[in-house]
Amino acid sequence: MRKQIVAGNWKMNNDLAESKKLAKQVVKKIKKGKIKDTKVIIAPTFVSLASAVKATKKSKVKVAAQNMHFEESGAFTGEVSAKMLKSVGVKTVILGHSERRAYFGETDAILAKKVDAALAHKMTVIFCFGEVLADRKSGKQEAVVEQQIKNALFHLEGTAFKNIILAYEPVWAIGTGETASPEQAQEMHAFIRTTIKEKYGDEVANSISILYGGSCKPSNAKEIFSKPDVDGGLIGGAALNANDFYAIINSF
Ligand code: 13P
Repeated sequence: MRKQIVAGNWKMNNDLAESKKLAKQVVKKIKKGKIKDTKVIIAPTFVSLASAVKATKKSKVKVAAQNMHFEESGAFTGEVSAKMLKSVGVKTVILGHSERRAYFGETDAILAKKVDAALAHKMTVIFCFGEVLADRKSGKQEAVVEQQIKNALFHLEGTAFKNIILAYEPVWAIGTGETASPEQAQEMHAFIRTTIKEKYGDEVANSISILYGGSCKPSNAKEIFSKPDVDGGLIGGAALNANDFYAIINSF
């Protein structure tokens, strides 16, 4: 069975004290609640990772980084490596977020190297991709998504590919309040799964979790998560509030 996953991408929000507080609130909610099978991940900024790992230690909540560099070490001012993330207990990393692509020039080629570096360190990758509004308006969304996935991931062997969690995040739905409809999400997720099936076969395709991201909130999560190829969500704004985040986790 595929893993159900809800991950919170905190983006550039929350200082150390705020992050610690929010991490503790999430842990408390999960402990009190009856969440059984859903995997929960939070992704604070680099400066709060170590404290978030500590705050979540005795819980089922995992901590992810929002980015990393592909090199081990060296003259890369401002960057953080997989080895450094592992040293503070972080074993999951978000790569390829549209904000990284749009504002920091991350290309498919760079992302392929980052994916390799993360997997070499036995990390789990949450790999993000998605079309911009112009692509959807011109009906090119599937072609765009297919290229993003192929360019950054399809050099991997099937066994390595299994360590990837895919996150479809249509750029036009991120932080805009405009969500893809459950039907649009399902249609794209089914397309993605078929694309994986063609390359890696049924077993791999059926084991990969594909998350939806983009204005996901307590009011729409249930319907989106009910779709057969939607295995959870990558949550931005709503993950900054423990009640909302928990309500989304509880939407399965
Ligand atoms: P919002 O949920 O704020 O739209 O952000 C989605 C996202 O980008 C998660 O990575």
